[in-house]
Amino acid sequence: MHRYFLVLLFVIRGIYANDTAFTFLPNDVIRKVKAENRKTLSGITRWIDDTTYNTSFYKYGLPEHLRSVIDLPIGNLATYSDLLGVLSKYLKKPITYLELGVSVGKNFYQLINLFENTECFGFEIEKINPTLERVLSNYQLIDQWDTGDIIENQLCLENLEIFAGKKLNMEWLSGTCAKENTLRKEPPTFASYKYKKTNNDIFYLSADIFNENSWKRIGYKKFNLIFSDAFHNIESLFFEYAMIEKYGLLDEDEFIFVWDDMGNEMTKAVLRIWESLYTKYKEKVLFQVIPLRGWFGDNEITHQVAVIMKLS
Ligand SMILES: C[S@@+](CC[C@H](N)C(=O)[O-])C[C@H]1O[C@@H](n2cnc3c(N)ncnc32)[C@H](O)[C@@H]1O
Repeated sequence: MHRYFLVLLFVIRGIYANDTAFTFLPNDVIRKVKAENRKTLSGITRWIDDTTYNTSFYKYGLPEHLRSVIDLPIGNLATYSDLLGVLSKYLKKPITYLELGVSVGKNFYQLINLFENTECFGFEIEKINPTLERVLSNYQLIDQWDTGDIIENQLCLENLEIFAGKKLNMEWLSGTCAKENTLRKEPPTFASYKYKKTNNDIFYLSADIFNENSWKRIGYKKFNLIFSDAFHNIESLFFEYAMIEKYGLLDEDEFIFVWDDMGNEMTKAVLRIWESLYTKYKEKVLFQVIPLRGWFGDNEITHQVAVIMKLS
């Protein structure tokens, strides 16, 4: 318990101390991650073109008034991308990364440049952003299918409130999970690519997270690093976790699970998930909420970022 607590404390302290007071993890690791992330971002001047944005299902989670902000330099305050990069250094096994909600790929792109020889999975309702796809090679379509399998979803939904231990907006959730209501109006796809620069294998699931058929595609995998940043409400976080549990997607030996945007109802979902993981792994599991910047960096207020991790 002690060792893991110290790891998290020192990472946070290091990230906050503007790289000076950090002693446990060498300063240069944090400085290097931050510098690499900013260098990676400086290579992209425009994240999304008009056609891609205007023909999207969900505007890549980027409302019109923030569209130009996505292209601005993010400054030097620590972001969740920096945190993911620094924490990943504590994983002993090769990184197997899953990002729920990739959007234009700003965080994903930073991480595939930081990580080497890993497998990185993106799960996003939109098509892969051409800006991100352009840097990848060896495209292979693994699977394409019809949207719905609401029967299984309903089975999972029945147990969701029991797990949550609280009343959820099940009417909204079952409506959102219904095949006919999915925002993705084209057949979902699962594809693979190579990112040659860092020798990463990239897998891209262009599919609705509220559809169980999507999760089945990655049901064979164990992830030791997960970033949940798709649909931001309590029901969605419970649903995601139900899928992660059902398909055994968390690597039991070691995992780092990160959520953006706490400080509201979503915190209750993450606290309940922590409780469940704590019951399973006892004091090996740590929970912490950390104020950090998000994908807009200094151009936006602080995000509350939750971390649950079990190190080996
Ligand atoms: C806040 S953005 C993600 C930002 C990204 N993680 C980053 O840091 O660069 C949220 C994304 O979740 C996606 N999303 C929303 N609902 C979804 C759903 N039902 N299934 C899959 N993705 C969804 C949106 O399209 C949007 O691109």
